[in-house]
Amino acid sequence: MEQPLGRLVVVDDEPSICRALSGIFECAGYKVTTFNQGNAALEAIAADTEIDAVITDLMMPDLNGIDLLRNLRERGSEVPLLIMTAHSDVETAVAAMKAGAFDYVCKPFDAEEMRLKIERAIRQRSLQRENDYLRRELHTRYKFDNIIGYSEPMQEVYSLIAKASKSRTNVLIRGESGTGKELVARALHYNSVRAAKRFVAVSCAALPSELLESELFGHEKGAFTGALWQKAGRFELAEGGTLFLDEIGDIAPHVQIKLLRVLQEREFDRVGGIKPIRMDVRLIAASNRDLEAAVTRGDFREDLYYRVSVIQIKLPPLRERKEDIPFLVEYFLKKYGEQDDRRVRTVDEASMELLQRYDWPGNIRELENAVEHAVVMADEGASTITPDLLPLHVQLGQGVKRLAPITEAPPTVTQAPPVNGNAPAPTPVVPPPSPGNGTEAPKPTDFNGVVAETERRMLIEALESTDWNLTRAAELLGISFRSMRYNVKKHGLSREENGISKANAAGEASDALA
Ligand SMILES: Nc1ncnc2c1ncn2[C@@H]1O[C@H](COP(=O)(O)OP(=O)(O)OP(=O)(O)O)[C@@H](O)[C@H]1O
Ligand SMILES: [Mg+2]
Repeated sequence: MEQPLGRLVVVDDEPSICRALSGIFECAGYKVTTFNQGNAALEAIAADTEIDAVITDLMMPDLNGIDLLRNLRERGSEVPLLIMTAHSDVETAVAAMKAGAFDYVCKPFDAEEMRLKIERAIRQRSLQRENDYLRRELHTRYKFDNIIGYSEPMQEVYSLIAKASKSRTNVLIRGESGTGKELVARALHYNSVRAAKRFVAVSCAALPSELLESELFGHEKGAFTGALWQKAGRFELAEGGTLFLDEIGDIAPHVQIKLLRVLQEREFDRVGGIKPIRMDVRLIAASNRDLEAAVTRGDFREDLYYRVSVIQIKLPPLRERKEDIPFLVEYFLKKYGEQDDRRVRTVDEASMELLQRYDWPGNIRELENAVEHAVVMADEGASTITPDLLPLHVQLGQGVKRLAPITEAPPTVTQAPPVNGNAPAPTPVVPPPSPGNGTEAPKPTDFNGVVAETERRMLIEALESTDWNLTRAAELLGISFRSMRYNVKKHGLSREENGISKANAAGEASDALA
């Protein structure tokens, strides 16, 4: 027999009805089991999670349809249930719907109508199963053993997450861009008693202040031009769960006041609303800025600062926990290495050395991108990552040094160490984003721009000093010919466009290289 369309159970004390329904649905491609007694059906259905829908008579001597439904729900079964009832009995049928029946049909029933209803019930059931699956999946994805890192600073982070997830205290997560603030926020939520409720994230930096206010607190119809409907805010959506406010340092003063009130009084008004709404939401905030400085400058309210930062979790930048790099690389290889039929599973020694030397101003997000890049660049069938597959700026962590003595590289790009083979200290390829407190970092977009510009300059410089000979320029940079060719193409470089020796644009080009 082919795969059935679904598995049905029919319950009726009248054997002829069971036979009739069984005939109709088996012909239509379903697998049908019948019961003449409610109690026997209850035991069987409760024990079998593979059943897709149940059709039951309402009136049966031992256990009526509604009680069957109630008992099933009590035992945790969510199977959709269709109730059959005598024509005169519509009121009871409505009661059955209230008790959670999927639908009802009146006897004598129309076979086609019944079939359509069952089809719909099964579709809905499969959506529901999918949702359950996704929710479980999400849950495992953010369980905290999915945060990779064995270094001491990360151990401290774990112990803080473990403690903080047990309470409902507000938490402030600090750290440069790409260090995993949102990941930690999710871990806090999914390890707390609120896990079954929602985790709602709002990026405060992404929205202008008027929009942010109505996004957070919702608005009443007509509260402002364009408020055509009443709208629930994110606080309401997160009821019982967790609200994650990303980049909290960007909140405008009048929204700060409103936020403070919610945290103090646990209630708020929608924009344009007059009736306060009670709420039970845990707040987790994140910032990659120096919030204390913002308080001193008067940009961020001090009272709010103390409210949101009862517990602070500081995420270390990747360059301060380089011992975690091999584990992170292994983790991201598992994530990307087996996508689209690829089988990239390892990283060779030279590549690992480059990965360890590089300074990772974009932190884990940048490392993740680098691994993904390498996997995409790998030839079909390749199982190992080699240096030429890494993004150029990561490869150049070493290349810079070889280039330096030959030409005068811009001071922001290289520190020009003596050429002594294997200098131990990593050389920053990009100007470090945050000398000092480590809490300021450029936005990823700035960061990408800086990286691209640095790459470009280094490529042009190497090409110029080798008279645009790709092989020798690649040698000079310490990268493969393949990687050289790829990057020249990626940056759209040509002697005509970018060469200093180009007569009519000499001045402009050498400026660009200065
Ligand atoms: N310890 C870690 N283990 C595994 N993956 C991580 C870890 N930390 C971060 N990541 C991954 O790195 C990426 C960036 O993390 P996340 O978005 O949480 O950073 P963030 O600190 O919120 O960055 P931003 O300040 O730019 O918003 C995500 O894909 C995340 O899954
Ligand atoms: Mg983030």
